[in-house]
Amino acid sequence: MAFGIDALSFPNRKFKIFILFILGTILVVTWATVNRNRTVTLNEGRISQRVLDDLKKDLEKFNIEINEKIRPLDLRITNLENKDRKYPPVKYLAEKDRKRILITGGAGFVGSHLADALVMAGHEVTVVDNFFTGRKRNIEHWIGHENFDLLNHDVVEPLLLEVDQIYHLASPASPPNYMYNPIKTIKTNTIGTLNMLGLAKRVHARLLLASTSEVYGDPEKHPQREDYWGHVNPIGPRACYDEGKRVAETMCYAYAKQEHVEVRVARIFNTFGPRMHMNDGRVVSNFIMQALEGKPLTVYGSGKQTRSFQYISDLVNGLILLMNSNFSEPVNIGNPSEHTIMEFAEMIRDAVGGKTPILNLAKMEDDPQRRKPDITRAKVILGWEPQVSLNIGLNRTIEYFRRELDKSKKSKLVDL
Ligand SMILES: NC(=O)c1ccc[n+]([C@@H]2O[C@H](COP(=O)([O-])OP(=O)(O)OC[C@H]3O[C@@H](n4cnc5c(N)ncnc54)[C@H](O)[C@@H]3O)[C@@H](O)[C@H]2O)c1
Repeated sequence: MAFGIDALSFPNRKFKIFILFILGTILVVTWATVNRNRTVTLNEGRISQRVLDDLKKDLEKFNIEINEKIRPLDLRITNLENKDRKYPPVKYLAEKDRKRILITGGAGFVGSHLADALVMAGHEVTVVDNFFTGRKRNIEHWIGHENFDLLNHDVVEPLLLEVDQIYHLASPASPPNYMYNPIKTIKTNTIGTLNMLGLAKRVHARLLLASTSEVYGDPEKHPQREDYWGHVNPIGPRACYDEGKRVAETMCYAYAKQEHVEVRVARIFNTFGPRMHMNDGRVVSNFIMQALEGKPLTVYGSGKQTRSFQYISDLVNGLILLMNSNFSEPVNIGNPSEHTIMEFAEMIRDAVGGKTPILNLAKMEDDPQRRKPDITRAKVILGWEPQVSLNIGLNRTIEYFRRELDKSKKSKLVDL
């Protein structure tokens, strides 16, 4: 009998194990399926596990792709942070001679060249910029240097810093840029200037305002001397800039009179050179780009209107001399060598070496007809006058634009 039970129970036990195995498998498969289709609550919405798994996979793929893209940038930052990296040569200045200098708009065309000159002279420079028209590239060669700081800040907001001198340059400068958002241009030149004058008052710093020849408007006197009050249309398309700068000058002298802030006002005439924006609509950059790209050079109006252009290094020297002078009235900083716009177009086309035609387009509203600084004051007070001839300056600028154009063509090829 015992044999009979054993004999029966053996296949029975195998059968039981088999049943248990089948049941277990069904259980595991059912659990996996249910779990995969299970809905998961994400914030207020519901999402299935399957969708969630797919999303996770997509995210992993995205992470891999993005890391590949970020790697070159990481390498660039690491290079920038590398203590062994080479900076342009910097003079050593004794503590008593070394100044803490703020440059607003220091990532722009003029500001970045001014930062170069001041850091190289041994001063401690802080650049403040909101990068509206400025670029980090313009000052990246100083990032990480112990005498250099960069703040991403809009001057329309107040700023607290301990400084000895403020070069207040923050403002869009080319017509398309300042007309793009006229209200912001007015705010930058009024509230921004008030903020910087307030800072100058608090920390007893000297402030230099980068004013402009545009305060003379479409001048009725020629050449323009600093005692000429100007001829500006207060409601024209350029007024946000012209009147903004005029009131910025007014503010400087109000702070000087009432709060004894030391102010310097530079009335800057058209300036050109490397680091100008390639597409900012200013006449020099327009002509150079058009000539380099083999396009017709476009002259607004008859082309008989005149301008005087100074090279950037002359302007920077003039600004530094003025800041460190004892003279507080406005000073013209510009090159009195006057040419018609048509002459400029021909000069640039010849320097580039092209044969593209020159096209006359409709005249721009409120475009000044004559511009030429009288620089007697700068000569007498600062001992300053331009050193770089138009030809030399143009050749340097054309070379810079050529390189930039090559770089942008190469980067477009890489993007493809
Ligand atoms: N370049 C010229 O021919 C010329 C002529 C006359 C006057 N200026 C004056 O010189 C200064 C510099 O001109 P540029 O040619 O270098 O122009 P730019 O546009 O290259 O530089 C202006 C800089 O100011 C910054 N900026 C603008 N609004 C700002 C804000 N609200 N807060 C902080 N930063 C701000 C921009 O991002 C840019 O870096 C300007 O004040 C301009 O009016 C220049």
